Amino acid sequence: MTHVRQQHAIQVVAHRGASEDAPEHTLAAYRKAIEDGADALECDVRLTADGHLVCVHDRRVNRTSNGRGAVSALELADLATLDFGTWRSRPSRRGREEEPDWVVRPEDPQETAVLTLERLLELVADAGRRVELAIETKHPTRWAGQVEERLLLLLKRFGLDAPATAADSPVRIMSFSARSLHRVRAASPALPAVYLMQFVSPRLRDGRLPAGVRIAGPSIRIVRNHPGYIERLKQAGHRVHVWTVNEPEDVDLCLDLGVDAIITNRPLAVLRQLGR
Ligand code: G3P
Ligand code: CA
Repeated sequence: MTHVRQQHAIQVVAHRGASEDAPEHTLAAYRKAIEDGADALECDVRLTADGHLVCVHDRRVNRTSNGRGAVSALELADLATLDFGTWRSRPSRRGREEEPDWVVRPEDPQETAVLTLERLLELVADAGRRVELAIETKHPTRWAGQVEERLLLLLKRFGLDAPATAADSPVRIMSFSARSLHRVRAASPALPAVYLMQFVSPRLRDGRLPAGVRIAGPSIRIVRNHPGYIERLKQAGHRVHVWTVNEPEDVDLCLDLGVDAIITNRPLAVLRQLGR
């Protein structure tokens, strides 16, 4: 296989914010990513028990906050009492207090409070430059369309639900669920959709994507193990957004294969590697 180093700009997307330097999915992490110069921000969204979209990756808050329980069983007011910024400094299994190793350690508790998607949209709107947003719907099947419905209502409030063309849209929706993407596209056909993949489904091995989807979101493991598949996606005219790319050699591989976006926990390091 011959790799041709691509000429076009590759987009650098901050995965859960600058999540190597600050606690993931917090205002602090997204502010850092914007300061670092990231082109776009990635976030996961879930519905609370009272119907708010919040940026939390796991089903439960146990790993990333000082609370416990499923996001879907908690109301926004419950989540607002939690701190999403201290989880790396919890006592270790050896019984000693672990030192937090964040580069960013905000004193204002609001910087590490639960982050609503609405607040994140405000942050992006106030960024002072174009910052795109890649929003991943988590466990959309459980909610039978409610995640997408709430998401589109919120985007509408920000005037982001119906871009003139996909290329104009500063927002894109990502999911491992083709059904979730279908729901979004049925209501808002110009919103770009990214089909995330952890493995290559035999059905899609030839480079096809679910109907209407023009962006593939393979894991870096797929890219390493099946570079020919990435070439097939490109030949089929699709764009390719790869996650989660943290190692310099993986950045090089993505460049060689001409991928369009790198989703990384380390936006600053990747931008430096790209000479930006
Ligand atoms: O950007 C896509 C990637 O975030 C998907 O995996 O588990 O980090 O949400 P995950
Ligand atoms: Ca995600």
